[in-house]
Amino acid sequence: MTDRTNRSWGGRFAEPTDAFVQRFTASVSFDRRLYRHDIQGSLAHARMLARIGVLSAEELAQIEAGFAQIQAEIEAGRFAWSEALEDVHMNLEAALTERIGEAGKKLHTARSRNDQVATDIRLWLRDEIDAIGAELTRLQEGIVELAARHTDTLMPGFTHLQTAQPVTFGHHLLAWFEMLDRDWERLQDCRRRLNRCPLGSAALAGTGFPIDRHYTAAALGFDAPTANSLDAVSDRDFAIEFCAAASLLLVHLSRMAEELVLWTSAQFDFVRLPDRFCTGSSIMPQKKNPDVPELVRGKAGRVAGHLVALLMLMKGQPLAYNKDNQEDKEPLFDTVDTVRDCLRAFADMVPALEVNAQAMREAARRGYATATDLADYLVRKGVPFREAHEIVGRAVRTALEKGVDLAELPLEALRALCPRIEGDVYQVLTLEGSVAARDHVGGTAPSRVAAAVAEARRRLAERSGATWAPSTQGRSRR
Ligand code: ARG
Repeated sequence: MTDRTNRSWGGRFAEPTDAFVQRFTASVSFDRRLYRHDIQGSLAHARMLARIGVLSAEELAQIEAGFAQIQAEIEAGRFAWSEALEDVHMNLEAALTERIGEAGKKLHTARSRNDQVATDIRLWLRDEIDAIGAELTRLQEGIVELAARHTDTLMPGFTHLQTAQPVTFGHHLLAWFEMLDRDWERLQDCRRRLNRCPLGSAALAGTGFPIDRHYTAAALGFDAPTANSLDAVSDRDFAIEFCAAASLLLVHLSRMAEELVLWTSAQFDFVRLPDRFCTGSSIMPQKKNPDVPELVRGKAGRVAGHLVALLMLMKGQPLAYNKDNQEDKEPLFDTVDTVRDCLRAFADMVPALEVNAQAMREAARRGYATATDLADYLVRKGVPFREAHEIVGRAVRTALEKGVDLAELPLEALRALCPRIEGDVYQVLTLEGSVAARDHVGGTAPSRVAAAVAEARRRLAERSGATWAPSTQGRSRR
């Protein structure tokens, strides 16, 4: 089976493939990963061929039994993959023929590796998107449950990484939730668009056999057959879309990761990561490093690189299939593996975070986080906002000089800056008063955060199963 002359196109060739060229052009070392979906596609194709009379019932039964045996061998690690047979498709077809004889040779009727591989990748990626969706949901559930416990936990909100205004920790966590929710939508959108069946497009122009494309599409859970054979075998835009959605997801995870790195530092000490998610230093005994979030942050670059690789792979390719497309697999596979690992890391880590509410509150208090509230207070007393801003700036300077918080300035000191200030000012200078005032849709008031938690739970509950159910709309029509 490893003889270089014994290849499926042997008839046309006067000499065997050069040994280097064989290695250079082979993809079996990585595309064997598609074996299950390749078999799935072949079985649907074979059943369709039997329906239209190209295969007998007996031949179909042999093909089904042959593939069952081959799949079992692969899964038991007993299958001998051959580089001479180039890719997963020819390996499996040759193995089938070896086991069942003549019927195996008929399987490739009305099909080409071009529509075969375009189908395999779609089937494979669809499964992976579903697995990624489940893991993403697990992470979002963890975030929502943590937010539910911290609807009124106070922390500084930042702009320019400087304390800006107080927010609740639950509100911050739900910002993460929203980022990931859009990622989930993007993945579902990508799934919807890729869910068309290329089988029957054959090499590029379709086939002269009376195939039933609706049957194979429905059998494989696709929404419909693809509409144009040239397009179906050549474009990998669905893989690019997936990598784009994955890149954004990783960018979001990298932002969350960066916050965890900051928050777990001794300088912030807002949250602690259990030891099982950290590593130590070989030289500095005091260190407990947030390696997991740091690695996730780093892996965002790798996934964005794969997106660019696929964009450049596709750019300028004339219709229809070109061998360039064999290069789609490794970036795509690595993107999927990376996304799954990073999601798993976060989904495990987030519910295990230990929150230091005291340190968060203290940081918000120290940063003059209620300065805007004081300005708003003055506006309500009739001071134009720009003037109020100026007055509060001076109040902050006074507080800084005295080394105290705004709420600790005596009333006389405040009234010296603006006589309209009265005793009720201290209500707005508290952190609790500040967040409670932001009581509108999308605001950080604890009551709004509690409502947002309920809404997030509702969205997650709605998600289960709905968009993933395989379509049953395929009709038997050529
Ligand atoms: N291994 C090939 C790929 O991944 C399969 C399609 C080969 N088609 C061809 N005409 N050489 O793209």
